[in-house]
Amino acid sequence: MLKNIVLMGPPGAGKGTLATRLREELKLTHISTGDMFREAIKNETPLGKEAKAYLDSGNLVPDELTIALVKERLSRSDCENGFLLDGFPRTLVQAEALDKLAKEINRPIETVINLDCDQNELIRRISGRRVCKNCGAPYHVDTMKPKVEGVCDVCGGPLYQRADDNEEALKVRLQHYVNSTKPLLDYYRDKGLLKNFDSLVGIARIFDEVINFLSSK
Ligand code: AP5
Repeated sequence: MLKNIVLMGPPGAGKGTLATRLREELKLTHISTGDMFREAIKNETPLGKEAKAYLDSGNLVPDELTIALVKERLSRSDCENGFLLDGFPRTLVQAEALDKLAKEINRPIETVINLDCDQNELIRRISGRRVCKNCGAPYHVDTMKPKVEGVCDVCGGPLYQRADDNEEALKVRLQHYVNSTKPLLDYYRDKGLLKNFDSLVGIARIFDEVINFLSSK
């Protein structure tokens, strides 16, 4: 079973949704840099104050801040049995830093799962997404409704729409994806780590396909 996993894909491809299910099923530690930044913003920490303008506008938080955050998180003992990196790395500098860090802590990346999705579907997903304020679990107003409207199935927290889930910020996020993050697919393909999945097949099927792939190794 592969256990040290990077999840990649454009905004709205389903990284967070897949990670939420995989962490339950496989007991892996889920590390979402987006969730960590949003938590810091909510708690008004120095990191949160610095990151807020970047997130709200859809821009990337500077590499040095993001790398320091992941370095500290990955070195904790709950990552010893495997981790899911969701939203990191997003730039070549971050990918190279992750290689170095993984070597230092002796937890090498074992696979990179990429979720493919076309742009119209990304816009549909992002515009209808609602997220739990407490645990970050994602929902959709049409295709992934909670059992009780406005309430998280997982923890009972309130659901809200993210500040960057609007047309303007989404355009910026997609542009950063194309310019800075998509090129990392070649980086990981060259290392023999990349595995592509079509995220248009629906949440349940993609989950089964990924679980089958991870357990076949
Ligand atoms: P982050 O939180 O990572 O956002 P993102 O990459 O834009 O990804 P999303 O969370 O929008 O989408 P997702 O792929 O997780 O989709 P989801 O599962 O929710 O980052 C936010 C910001 O933080 C960045 O813009 C940046 O400012 C900063 N940041 C974070 N990491 C950084 C880094 N490394 N460097 C610099 N800055 C960083 O699904 C979306 C919707 O679709 C949901 O409603 C869901 O129900 C639905 N859905 C999901 N899968 C399916 C499916 N298979 N079929 C049908 N519907 C589906």
